Amino acid sequence: MNPDGFIVHLPTIPVAGEPELCFRWLQESDLDALRAIFSKSEVVRYMSCELQDSDEKAREYLLSIHQGFLSGELYQWGLEWRGNIVGTATLAGLERHAGGIHQGEIGFALAPACWGQGLMRRVLPALLDFAFSSLGLHRLTADVDPRNRASLSLLEFLGFQREGLMRQRYFHLGEIQDAMIFGLLRQEWQTAHR
Ligand SMILES: CC(C)(COP(=O)(O)OP(=O)(O)OC[C@H]1O[C@@H](n2cnc3c(N)ncnc32)[C@H](O)[C@@H]1OP(=O)(O)O)[C@@H](O)C(=O)NCCC(=O)NCCS
Repeated sequence: MNPDGFIVHLPTIPVAGEPELCFRWLQESDLDALRAIFSKSEVVRYMSCELQDSDEKAREYLLSIHQGFLSGELYQWGLEWRGNIVGTATLAGLERHAGGIHQGEIGFALAPACWGQGLMRRVLPALLDFAFSSLGLHRLTADVDPRNRASLSLLEFLGFQREGLMRQRYFHLGEIQDAMIFGLLRQEWQTAHR
């Protein structure tokens, strides 16, 4: 059992009104899909992961996802659409206190073929409900490169507030990158969606 009482794997998160979409546990049979998504430089350009451009790297990536689940430090679901994994969503850096989890950092990625169709807008509310209601987080943080327009727009659509800019925060893929920090509090989310 992991620190939050999940026994074998993460629970599946259905998306209300969207029977073809859900967040689910990633497994061995998803390796090709994971590799297809994370071997694209445009996907990892602003993410905290490296290119997963070989079978071996994809396998190590899946292993790290499973280890994150066991330690309770990182929860990463596959986004299934019409029977295929087309992306992932993550709650990382989960900070615990005696009664539960205080906060975590949200992340998301989609296969480029699925970009620009509003898919993440449709599914992320289900993950936010899960984070705030089922896991009981008080706060979610997001950390985005200010050039990543699609992510900025998505986070503001969800109600995240800009809290500050960390200049030259990362050196990633040979480039210095700034980080815009966003925050969303449980009471803000629940007030907006009651
Ligand atoms: C971030 C991401 C998940 C957005 O998903 P999506 O389902 O395509 O988002 P949407 O269709 O809701 O589009 C959001 C906005 O970005 C715009 N957009 C989508 N794709 C875009 C692109 N390739 N270039 C510029 N803008 C784009 C949309 O027009 C929309 O703008 P609007 O709010 O002004 O209408 C997706 O772009 C992605 O996987 N990016 C790579 C991984 C990544 O950067 N993750 C976040 C790290 S913090």
